[in-house]
Amino acid sequence: MRKVMIAGNWKMNKTFSEGVELALALNEELKDGTGDVEVVVCPPAVDLKGVAEVIEQNDAPFGLGAQNVYWEEKGAFTGETAPDMLTAIGAGYCIIGHSERRGYFGETDEDINKKAKALMAHGIVPISCCGEPLEIREAGTHVEFVVNQIKADTADLVIDDPAKYVIAYEPIWAIGTGKTATADDAQEVCGAIRETLVEIFGAETAAEIRVLYGGSANEKNIADLVAKPDVDGALVGGASLKAPQFAEMVKNAQ
Ligand code: 13P
Repeated sequence: MRKVMIAGNWKMNKTFSEGVELALALNEELKDGTGDVEVVVCPPAVDLKGVAEVIEQNDAPFGLGAQNVYWEEKGAFTGETAPDMLTAIGAGYCIIGHSERRGYFGETDEDINKKAKALMAHGIVPISCCGEPLEIREAGTHVEFVVNQIKADTADLVIDDPAKYVIAYEPIWAIGTGKTATADDAQEVCGAIRETLVEIFGAETAAEIRVLYGGSANEKNIADLVAKPDVDGALVGGASLKAPQFAEMVKNAQ
């Protein structure tokens, strides 16, 4: 049985003290628990330690994720963060392959594949993003486009625990635009992702891998999204930056 996941991607928002404040407010909002929903917040790198302390000191009902990682163990890689460094401050999850990293920073499927392997070798759950730009959607080749991303991103990946590998389908045209894909649009692609995972990893493993939707997901549309058979939660940008709104979303995903 796949557990619904709601993961907040704070992107490049919130200074250290603002991040701590948001984490404290979210802990307060979620004090009655999160039901069957696994909740994760992914602050900017410099906020991770502060949010980790909030989680630890309050036994907060959410996990901690980073927004990026480098695949090497250590060394002369100025500006990068190694998987070990994430583990050491208590981050159990990490977003990889976000379309903003692919688009602005040239991250490739090959990079994403290396990052997934490095994270999994350290017991960190990758939240591996995929999704098509508007012109591909308009050309009607979005399913094929995303399936090819999945195949490249998972090349030679060994998944021992399928609950610890997460995919997020984020159509680029729906990110930060207020244009949510309909629940049927999300299901079409998330269903195709599942079929691809069956081909690659077999039915048993594919049945346990969470496939999230991302792109203007919020407290109003989340229930329709998670009602679809292959949509297992959401990777949330804007709606994760206000504790009451994000908590409402967690509630409505139950
Ligand atoms: P929005 O929810 O702001 O559209 O962002 C989605 C996203 O990119 C999450 O990673």
